[in-house]
Amino acid sequence: MQGTLRDIHAQRLLILDFGSQYTQLIARRVRECGVYCEIYPFDITAAEIAEFGPAGVILSGGPETVTEGATPRIPQSVFELGVPVLGICYGLQAMAAQLGGEVVASELREFGHAQINSEANSNLLAPIFASASAVDVWMSHGDKVAAMPAGFVCTASSANAPYAAIEDPQRQFFGVQFHPEVTHTDNGEALIKRFARELCGCQGDWNAANIVEDAISSVRALVGKDKVVLGLSGGVDSSVVAALLARAIGEQLTCIFVDNGLLRKNESAEVRAAFSGAMGEGSLAELNIITVNAQGEFLSKLAGVDDPEAKRKIIGATFVDVFEREAKKLNDVNWLAQGTIYPDVIESAASKYGKAHVIKSHHNVGGLPERMTLALIEPLRELFKDEVRKIGLHLGLPPSLIHRHPFPGPGLGVRILGEVKPSYAEVLRDADAIFIEELRRADLYEQVSQAFAVYLPVKSVGVVGDARRYEHVIALRAVETIDFMTARWAHLPYDFIEGVSNRIINEISAVSRVVYDVSSKPPATIEWE
Ligand code: XMP
Repeated sequence: MQGTLRDIHAQRLLILDFGSQYTQLIARRVRECGVYCEIYPFDITAAEIAEFGPAGVILSGGPETVTEGATPRIPQSVFELGVPVLGICYGLQAMAAQLGGEVVASELREFGHAQINSEANSNLLAPIFASASAVDVWMSHGDKVAAMPAGFVCTASSANAPYAAIEDPQRQFFGVQFHPEVTHTDNGEALIKRFARELCGCQGDWNAANIVEDAISSVRALVGKDKVVLGLSGGVDSSVVAALLARAIGEQLTCIFVDNGLLRKNESAEVRAAFSGAMGEGSLAELNIITVNAQGEFLSKLAGVDDPEAKRKIIGATFVDVFEREAKKLNDVNWLAQGTIYPDVIESAASKYGKAHVIKSHHNVGGLPERMTLALIEPLRELFKDEVRKIGLHLGLPPSLIHRHPFPGPGLGVRILGEVKPSYAEVLRDADAIFIEELRRADLYEQVSQAFAVYLPVKSVGVVGDARRYEHVIALRAVETIDFMTARWAHLPYDFIEGVSNRIINEISAVSRVVYDVSSKPPATIEWE
């Protein structure tokens, strides 16, 4: 998206992906220093690189080895652009091998913490060696550079990587064997900032205020006087799209909030409240929200269905039906807004070598644009989740909404095991609300990545007072994770869990027992279905 006031994309870095699990992290670090960047597969063409017009190029790490024939190589044109190039790990090795150096399999592999020592003055490394001549870094490599290409000097070494950092000061080519993008490398972010801002000469225009301003002018230019419809779920992405579009086009936006009977307690009211707060004080335009109570429609279609995938399909298809029906009642809508974010875009464009890319299917409005012949508007398409959060806060959305745990599209439908019954949903909502309320009260909510209750329709005996209880079971699930691909069960304090369990059993008569889930992912998934 190009802004009309200032082009905050003009100074940009190109990140070539060789399949590292850290490629997106590199991009996030670059963005954190205020510089726009995009990730492309390593096999992008010379014409595409030229058209992108980078102020600098970063070559990611990757799982392959340059010591074998048909592994990824850097497009030759990268070395002919006349801009600084930074190779990280595999990127360094590929650069060394392609420019005439030598890379060999290391007798000793280095994984995890290592120390590097300064070998020569380096503009790139100056920020990390500012206060020490030996620095802790994060390594993950089996190969190493054994001989540098002509024109390069060695600027740092480690025990098992004599060329832990090399550079050609003339051509501004830099290579580091360690990973400056991970937080375990001391001052790694300062190294990336030195590269992006000083060596590549980017000014740092990429910040929340400019992103918002740019997105607003792009949206206005794109939709003109047209009307836009948005499915508002209460999640971070759709909420930020709503706030952004409300500010850009005001009354031309209508949000449809579908209550499918599988939402959390007070969800619909809380979403409205979040916007009424954010929209107040004349800071944002009034938000048009149509709340559709479709609980009966969803729950009757789910009656008797116990297979998780069948439930997901029914919930997804019913959403599309309801949304389409409501949107058609609005006159002359031309656009459908979606909260697609940059990682979704990268994942769907993953190259043939993109081994680090795992595709998750959690699009709640799948199929809608085609069915409704609407044009798509995706104002968050180039943003990472942390950037979406930042602009959400900048737009005045409440922090509690911005930092909310993710909630799956099928909602409680995949947290009630087997058949979904309205009475089960009611009980689960209450139990979940107690768990979340207690997490917030104990300041634990933001320390876990996702927490929720699960309804187990198995009968278990309990005793309350003198009475015997024979009721269902609630499981509590809380995980810590960075990317939701792997997760560790959260080690919540025992007395905290005890307090939650007591409240649930005492306050909800339909529950006789509470259990805590101690499974990590893999092999267990985060959701129970
Ligand atoms: P799993 O259970 O696969 O969950 O470990 C990983 C993350 O994805 C969420 N999730 C979903 N989100 N539709 C969604 O929109 C789904 O069908 C779905 N299944 C899982 C889950 O809540 C967790 O954050």
